[in-house]
Amino acid sequence: MLQKTDSPLFQPITIGDLALKNRIVMAPLTRSRSSDAGVPPDFAADYYAQRASAGLIISEATNISAQARGYALTPGIWTEAQVAAWRRVTTAVHANDGKMFLQLWHTGRISHPDLHGGELPVAPSAIAPKGQAFTNEGLKDHVTPRALETDEIPAIVADYAHAAQCAKDAGFDGVEVHSANNYLLEQFIRDSSNQRTDRYGGSVENRLRFPLEVVAAVTKVWGGGRRVGLRMSPGTTMPGETPLDSNPMATYGAYIKELNKFGLLYIHDIEGVTQLSRAADGIDYMAFRKAFTGAYIANNNYTRELAEATVSEGKADLISFGRPFIANPDLVERLRNGSPLAEAPKAYWYGGDATGYSDWPGMDGQIRLKS
Ligand SMILES: Cc1cc2nc3c(=O)[nH]c(=O)nc-3n(C[C@H](O)[C@H](O)[C@H](O)COP(=O)(O)O)c2cc1C
Repeated sequence: MLQKTDSPLFQPITIGDLALKNRIVMAPLTRSRSSDAGVPPDFAADYYAQRASAGLIISEATNISAQARGYALTPGIWTEAQVAAWRRVTTAVHANDGKMFLQLWHTGRISHPDLHGGELPVAPSAIAPKGQAFTNEGLKDHVTPRALETDEIPAIVADYAHAAQCAKDAGFDGVEVHSANNYLLEQFIRDSSNQRTDRYGGSVENRLRFPLEVVAAVTKVWGGGRRVGLRMSPGTTMPGETPLDSNPMATYGAYIKELNKFGLLYIHDIEGVTQLSRAADGIDYMAFRKAFTGAYIANNNYTRELAEATVSEGKADLISFGRPFIANPDLVERLRNGSPLAEAPKAYWYGGDATGYSDWPGMDGQIRLKS
């Protein structure tokens, strides 16, 4: 292992015009503590500000519209009340010298009619995912979604643009387009979940059309790609037990080639199966890193040792950590010192109040309320 002080993980890096104080990113983490109106709680400002020693924080996935919702108690970014609540969060993060992007989310078929007044969730094709949705009444089986009509798609692209503008108004430093984990964008990309016959299905070019229209709309709002990142997960089968695309190297390779035209700040790649495994299943993530012209954030089951080796060998510019940030608000300091990490019981992951969320102490035993 490198000397602690020499570790590249703790060196500053500038990507685009964004100067980051280290190469550790807080990965997006849904924590399901918002109101039914999608407004984050006041104590979300404490939670995020406590973690502001990360080089960059990516917010929990945030719905771009009512139609985008797939889980109860998740936040949104399309109403004035939501923007006001997020502004409290970004103000607290900035006051603690942090930087924060908002993750823009549409869940597509990973949803439930209970979240849509009894209407079916929407998707590229009417194919039911396996598994269960998190509703206000607990877990319920996923249903067969309704396939979107071709002429409904421009309105969803407009919802992304509106949400991107709201994120700007809320004071975020940028946005991350959530094109991972088999939510709506990735449902369009993969031929396993997209069996459309219109211009949004069939060929790779057609399957990429909707995600690229979204990227075009979002980068337009943000004045180009310099403050826009994109998350992808070419090898994940989660959630919904979604099969991979039949040719992920060709499909995601074509995606990256197109994304380069927008000058995006970064891609944030979940390598392997989200949370579960780093098994690559024939996917060459380094080929994607090399093909992409912006920065590369690597994620999934990274330890300090693997993160250090990956950054030192030039295999990633930044590393994001998800689960370790839940119970370790001062994760950066703990990694720097080689200190033990606390582990959050799963019962605290989703839902509840400030307990198990913004009340984790730092190494000195203190709970910092920063907002
Ligand atoms: C509680 C929890 C919530 C998550 N929520 C999101 C999310 O909102 N958006 C997202 O892209 N990934 C989400 N993920 C995936 C993480 O960002 C990350 O990819 C995953 O946990 C693997 O990284 P890790 O091994 O460092 O935890 C979530 C994971 C967990 C455990």
